[in-house]
Amino acid sequence: MATSAAGAVVILGSGLIGRSWAMLFASGGFEVKLYDIEQQQITNALENIKKEMKLLEQSGSLKGALNMEQQLSLISGCSHLGKAVEGAIHIQECVPENLELKKKIFAQLDRIVDDTVILSSSSSCLLPSKLFAGLTHVKQCIVAHPVNPPYYVPLVELIPHPETAPATMDKTHALMKKIGQSPVRLLREIDGFALNRLQYAIISEAWRLVEGGILSPNDLDLVMSDGLGMRYAFIGPLETMHLNAEGMVNYCDRYSEGMKRVLKTFGPIPEFSGATVEKVNQAMCRKVPDDPGHLAARRQWRDDCLMRLAKLKSQVQPQ
Ligand code: NAI
Repeated sequence: MATSAAGAVVILGSGLIGRSWAMLFASGGFEVKLYDIEQQQITNALENIKKEMKLLEQSGSLKGALNMEQQLSLISGCSHLGKAVEGAIHIQECVPENLELKKKIFAQLDRIVDDTVILSSSSSCLLPSKLFAGLTHVKQCIVAHPVNPPYYVPLVELIPHPETAPATMDKTHALMKKIGQSPVRLLREIDGFALNRLQYAIISEAWRLVEGGILSPNDLDLVMSDGLGMRYAFIGPLETMHLNAEGMVNYCDRYSEGMKRVLKTFGPIPEFSGATVEKVNQAMCRKVPDDPGHLAARRQWRDDCLMRLAKLKSQVQPQ
């Protein structure tokens, strides 16, 4: 394994997300130590990363300035937590989404880390105030929530604990930029963070429209994939407003009454149960049968599409 001038990063948990982080940090030239309680998970992760990187190199999609061999030589497995964290600049926790498990791991880390390493959780929805409560090193703690698959979808939400030091946020932001990700700062924690709050707002109205018999499930999905989603891959909803009139102020002048009128017609939070689940499920299963083989093939197709989109975005939006 090679050492790196960029520094060493520990990935704690070598599952789906841990593997992606390992590849991203290696692409940024960091030495990566993969830790897991299951030795077999580390072995599988190292094999899987090698396979993935080969495919990425063949398709010209490998990230970073280093070649595949150089990146692979930066990644190694480690089954001793104390040894893994020695000298690390950043620890990215990627164990299953379970508050008690994560709290136990951060308490364990709290006892062995120095005052400089960043303690970062990949949690999708656990609040930093719960995850990091009572830790001595709370100033160094942050949630860095990636989006699946992180190698192609660069967004990372950074969420501080109320006592997280501003320097921790700044350092993590800089680190994410260095590995080619697109970090956003939440200035304080909120349930669902930003991405899932937006996602749930969309799911909620999608469900109401289908439940109300306004659109079929497949047409509803087309509204996003061939409509809003096309635009949102490049500009967000606020810039869309700015461009869809003569600037933001003009958009609000023109459309705020209409938006408020429509928003008042939104229904209550759906139950996501009963006949509507059956209806949506039938439509989805006709398109993608829900056995593991078909689901995996469709996910692979989705990831290929995202890889191409990521390439296109890097061409049209040079960093
Ligand atoms: P996973 O189940 O694929 O991997 C978890 C890994 O943690 C396994 O290899 C397991 O052996 C290991 N592990 C369990 N207990 C451990 C311990 N005490 N010490 C060290 N390793 C331990 O989980 P996945 O999907 O990678 O998720 C990890 C985190 O990332 C979760 O918090 C999840 O919410 C978050 N996340 C997941 C996304 C997804 O789409 N899967 C997207 C964004 C965030």
